[in-house]
Amino acid sequence: MSRLNYIGHLTIDQFLREYWQQAPVLLRQALPELPDMISPEELAGLACEDVVESRLVSTDQATPGWHVRHGPFSEQDFTSLPDTDYTLLVQDVEKHIPELRRLVDPFRFIPDWRIDDLMISYAAPNGNVGPHTDAYDVFLIQTMGRRRWQIACRFYPDLLTDCDLQILKHFHAEQEWVVEPGDVLYLPPGVAHYGVALEPCMTCSVGFRAPSDYELLGSYTDWLLDCHSDGSRFTDADRQPADHASRIPDQDLADLRQRLKNALLEDDNAIDIWLGRGLSTPKENFALQEPGNIETVDDFLDTWRQSGGLLRNPACRMLYANISGSWHLFVHGEHVEIADTIAGRLPEICETNSLPWDPDNPPELLALMFELYRSGYYYFC
Ligand code: SIN
Ligand code: CO
Repeated sequence: MSRLNYIGHLTIDQFLREYWQQAPVLLRQALPELPDMISPEELAGLACEDVVESRLVSTDQATPGWHVRHGPFSEQDFTSLPDTDYTLLVQDVEKHIPELRRLVDPFRFIPDWRIDDLMISYAAPNGNVGPHTDAYDVFLIQTMGRRRWQIACRFYPDLLTDCDLQILKHFHAEQEWVVEPGDVLYLPPGVAHYGVALEPCMTCSVGFRAPSDYELLGSYTDWLLDCHSDGSRFTDADRQPADHASRIPDQDLADLRQRLKNALLEDDNAIDIWLGRGLSTPKENFALQEPGNIETVDDFLDTWRQSGGLLRNPACRMLYANISGSWHLFVHGEHVEIADTIAGRLPEICETNSLPWDPDNPPELLALMFELYRSGYYYFC
């Protein structure tokens, strides 16, 4: 994948040094050539599907405040909407419409595991989701119409009560811009922002994820429990008689404390493989994949040769890492150790949407692709 050295007027190095995780920045015309976008009608169509996560946020004069409804929606929900004051937001669009991954590509100077999804919103005039903060970094790409963004780095954290959305009670803009298609606003976590559609508009949010220490710890201990359900247990063969039965002896406290610390220790390699698997695990609505039904390698290779290309299931997260000198591929929560002879192909496998047939592909690569196809991570169109 070719990479650009600039993001808007900034070099990638400058952006990372001065803004990433630190300060908001408006990148005027950072993406002047937008890919063919989904239309508002197609976005509404997606929001009617069961596996798609979507929300409709509206403001209306009769019952002041913001109201949210969650999808899936019906056609009737959209035909009964007013002309103004609503926003439809759809998550994970790049996993449903793989061509739209192109909107994420310019930001892949940040590793894929950090990227959560591409959310697309369509807003009618005056549509907005209220002033709020997000816990994660976001690039807000304007792809249609104009929107006024207001932001504040310092604000009172109090939220509106009686509202299903987390909306700031007091918001005073420190900076404001009107953005147009091609403009990108970067916000680090925790910056208050309020975007109001000046006309029918679409905004694409490339959102990032950052696990909290205690989320990591929670899943780490779940995994340890799975691996060591019959692990060692407290023993006290050298017990002395207790002076007071109700006192927990100091030695017992020290032993238990030490056992707890020991139980959390695991081999670094095993932890790294567990991390790779966890980071490639999809959200629940993408968990099930249809396995490929071609049963033999020969039939699979014939089909690949004839079809020209093997397409990657867009819902699959593919990541790789070098762990203690060995290469590992992680996909959909699974892990495969990769032979050194084909390790150089890992970026291509993980970063492109299709793999063309090539008669010179080595047998290890063919075997790997067959395994990935059988698991449902690749398909033929
Ligand atoms: C929107 O697209 O309307 C809202 C995005 C955001 O504020 O995070
Ligand atoms: Co936001």
